[in-house]
Amino acid sequence: MRVLGIETSCDETGVGVFDGDRGLLAHAVYSQVEIHAEYGGVVPELASRDHVRKTLPLIRQVLREAGLPKESIDGVAFTAGPGLIGALLVGAAVGRALAWAWGVPAIGIHHMEGHLLAPMLEAPAPAFPFVALLVSGGHTQLLEAAAIGRYRLLGESLDDAAGEAFDKTAKILGLPYPGGPALARLAEHGDPQRYRFPRPMTDRPGLDFSFSGLKTFTLNTLQRETARTHDPARTRADIARAFEEAAVDTLVIKCRRALRQCANRRLVVAGGVGANRRLRARLDAMAAQEDTEVFYPRPEFCTDNGAMIAYAGWQRLRAGQAEPLAFTPRSRWSMEELPPV
Ligand code: KG4
Ligand code: ZN
Repeated sequence: MRVLGIETSCDETGVGVFDGDRGLLAHAVYSQVEIHAEYGGVVPELASRDHVRKTLPLIRQVLREAGLPKESIDGVAFTAGPGLIGALLVGAAVGRALAWAWGVPAIGIHHMEGHLLAPMLEAPAPAFPFVALLVSGGHTQLLEAAAIGRYRLLGESLDDAAGEAFDKTAKILGLPYPGGPALARLAEHGDPQRYRFPRPMTDRPGLDFSFSGLKTFTLNTLQRETARTHDPARTRADIARAFEEAAVDTLVIKCRRALRQCANRRLVVAGGVGANRRLRARLDAMAAQEDTEVFYPRPEFCTDNGAMIAYAGWQRLRAGQAEPLAFTPRSRWSMEELPPV
């Protein structure tokens, strides 16, 4: 079975084609970064309008470049939530309509399930059950995954998601949107010994996160230090490094705790912050101590893409699941509500 996947939940238009026999056949992402950069963040209405312009042309481009006639597509998957509702509506309407026109089944995919399954596009793919750390711009979650559609939430962010904390902290440091990768680059030059930021909620039991305090800590440190420093560029790099160390350390501490709690030795990491090199290095070091295997998607599949939606869609469509003609995108949606396969 061959599935076309469409992702439009936020500021990236993503298209992918996954084939059950041959694996990922094609994919492309169009990023709206330039559109939102001047506003310092995603403007939902501009995102929706640009998805309207880009989704169909990107689908045509991907099919043409891979030499795949539309008749070769056996099913269509689209992101149905969570995300920006206007943006979701575009991909869902295009995907559902194409499936109807082509006479093939369609399925709405949970965006975070797409992220969660993205490491299965790599070899070796993780086997169930595993513990998953999902770290994106909108979500920070630890889950226990028993099988596709059987997810138990272990903990999540009570305020800012990890990616959101990277983005907001980057803004405080005067970095351009999107802040996460820019902050990570600045932190490369920072001295990890100069400042020590707190590791929120690690001194008590539990697997929830709270990252919003780190942002305030950054602001206070920046204001205090700017008044006394002779080298503001170095101070900013050192603060970026201290923030990154604290955020990464906090995620690693909770992952170790979750693995022990679930008596599991497989960890899956996905979502945009999963592309962070320091996070990967620290998780690898922790996993070696815990005799645990860690699975990541390649960096381009950590951030939003259509390949992960095509793959998740293939898993569900081949199991006979499908969406009726009346589709329902949802801006909020718990992964625990998903049906098993
Ligand atoms: O998964 P994603 O592409 O979109 C959502 O579903 O939200 O994640 C985007 C988030 C942004 O907050 C971005 O700043 C962050 O992932 N991000 C990073 C890195 N690359 C992307 N954060 C830290 N380090 C990175 N290298
Ligand atoms: Zn995402």
